[in-house]
Amino acid sequence: MESHHQQTNMWKISEVTVKDLPKINELENELNLNKTKLNFFNQTLSNENFKFIKLVLEKKIIGFLQFSLNKSDCDIISIGVSKKFQKMGHGKLLVEYLKSSNLKNIFVEVSTNNINAIMFYYSLNFLKIGLRKNYYKKPKSDAILLKLENVN
Ligand SMILES: CC(C)(COP(=O)(O)OP(=O)(O)OC[C@H]1O[C@@H](n2cnc3c(N)ncnc32)[C@H](O)[C@@H]1OP(=O)(O)O)[C@@H](O)C(=O)NCCC(=O)NCCS
Repeated sequence: MESHHQQTNMWKISEVTVKDLPKINELENELNLNKTKLNFFNQTLSNENFKFIKLVLEKKIIGFLQFSLNKSDCDIISIGVSKKFQKMGHGKLLVEYLKSSNLKNIFVEVSTNNINAIMFYYSLNFLKIGLRKNYYKKPKSDAILLKLENVN
């Protein structure tokens, strides 16, 4: 029988460990996202409402997602996919990982300047539920509050 090599078999999502932090910081730097500091990371390890996951493709970390849980709701704190691997469905894999758990709502705040991320969330069926004026200070911008009601 003919066999097909499927891309989907080569990726894996698992929890970020302290030894992943330098690579995560590299990605955050590449994407101009806030750097996750070691101190902060260590504190989150004892916080069961905070999760940090990585997307590994062929042994390389190409994406990550930080989120917090509050009962059946979830807040996306940070998400990133390495530029070379963007627009290939990797960010969607990370959000789908969230959707597969028993969550009711997923919330995220995005700068009105971050058109890429807004388009990303809209294409995943997030809806705009609010605007937070001057939410970001550097550079100054408003935030759009988006929500995905989970159907799972
Ligand atoms: C936002 C981000 C994580 C998206 O990751 P990605 O791997 O490129 O996204 P995907 O390829 O999974 O895209 C999923 C869907 O969003 C759409 N999408 C993604 N980026 C888009 C863009 N710039 N414009 C329009 N649509 C876009 C895709 O077309 C796809 O739609 P489809 O399922 O209908 O085909 C990535 O662009 C990133 O790391 N950005 C920098 C960091 C950042 O801004 N993070 C968000 C704020 S915390």
